[in-house]
Amino acid sequence: MRLLVTGGAGYIGGTFIRSALAAGHEVTVLDNLSTGHRDVVPEPIRFVHGDIRQRDLMDELLADSEAVVHFAALSIVSHSIADPLGYYRENLGGFLALMEAIADSPVRKLVFSSSAAVYGMGEGRPFKEDDPRRPVNPYGGTKLAIEETLEHVAPGLGLDYASLRYFNAAGAMDDHGERHDPETHLIPLALEAAATGGELKIFGQDYPTPDGTCIRDYIHVEDLAQAHLKALDALGDGLRTAMNLGTGSGFSVREVADCVKNVTGLPLKVSETTRREGDPALLVADVGKAWDLLAWRAEKLELSDIVQSAWNFLNPR
Ligand code: UFG
Repeated sequence: MRLLVTGGAGYIGGTFIRSALAAGHEVTVLDNLSTGHRDVVPEPIRFVHGDIRQRDLMDELLADSEAVVHFAALSIVSHSIADPLGYYRENLGGFLALMEAIADSPVRKLVFSSSAAVYGMGEGRPFKEDDPRRPVNPYGGTKLAIEETLEHVAPGLGLDYASLRYFNAAGAMDDHGERHDPETHLIPLALEAAATGGELKIFGQDYPTPDGTCIRDYIHVEDLAQAHLKALDALGDGLRTAMNLGTGSGFSVREVADCVKNVTGLPLKVSETTRREGDPALLVADVGKAWDLLAWRAEKLELSDIVQSAWNFLNPR
C-alpha cells in the first residue's frame, strides 16, 4: 500500500516505518521535526519536512496515498498539564486540518495513534474498549476528542479507521529507540540512572496497588508496529473502531526498577518523591478485541526482553 505516515520521524512512528518497509509498503513520512529526528527515517523511505496544517502540501501527498497512519502529536502528559491549550491546538487542531484534507482526497483508510490515557482512573482492572473514557489529563483529553471526532465524522465520509489505544510503548528496534528531549519515560530514565550512577525518582508510593507504585502495561514498540500493519490490512470493509494495544500484564514502577538492575547488572539508586500530577494508578489493557478483530497479540511478553532491547539501544556494544 502507498502509506502517508505523519510523525514518522518519532519513536513509535519510526518503528512503524521500518516494519512497513519490511512488509513491502511504499512509505512517505511527513514530519515537522518538532519532536522527531530526521535521521530516524532511513532510505528508501521518502521524507517530507512539513506540517499537517499545510493544506497544499497535504493535497499533494494525499493524492498519491492509499492510507494515512497518523502518529504526529505531542505526547508528554506533564507538558499537557502545563500547556493544555497548546496540546489541544497541536493535537486536535492538527488532526482537524488532516481530516479536512482527507475529506477532499481519495484516501479512505486511517490508522490513528490513540492512547490508554483516554480511560483515566478506572476501577483497578484491565480496561476494555467500551469502558467509560474519562481522561485525567489534557493529553488524554486531546486523544479522546480525536476519537470522538472520528466517530462522528468518519461514517459520512465513508472513511474506515482504527483508533489504536497504546498502553506504554517501550523498548527499541535495533538502532532505533527512544530519544525524547527531555526524557520523561520510566524505562529510559531508569536505564540512564543505572548507567550514570544517577538516581531514579519514584513518583508516589501510596497508590492502591500491591507495592504502592503505579502499574503500567509496557508493550514493545515492534509489537505496536505489527498491530498497525494488521489494522491497515483490516481497513476497507467498513471497520470503524478503537482497540487497545497492550500485553495484558502490568508492572509496577518498583518492578521496572528491579528489572533494570537485573538487565544492566548495575546498582540503581532510587528516591521516593510525591505523586506526579495526572498519573492513573493502574493502566493495563484487556487485549481481547485486537485479537478478535486483527488476530494480533503482543509477542514480547517478558519485561526483561523489553528492557534489554532499550538497554542495547542506549548502551551499544
Ligand atoms: N515514573 C516514575 N519516575 C520517573 C518516570 C516515571 O516513577 O522518573 C512513573 C510514572 O509516575 C508512571 C510510570 O512511571 O507511574 C510510567 O511513567 P511514564 O512517564 O513512562 O509513562 P506514562 O504512563 O506517564 O505515559 C505513557 C505515555 C503517554 C501515554 C501513557 C499510556 O507517555 O503518552 O503512557 O499508558 F498516554
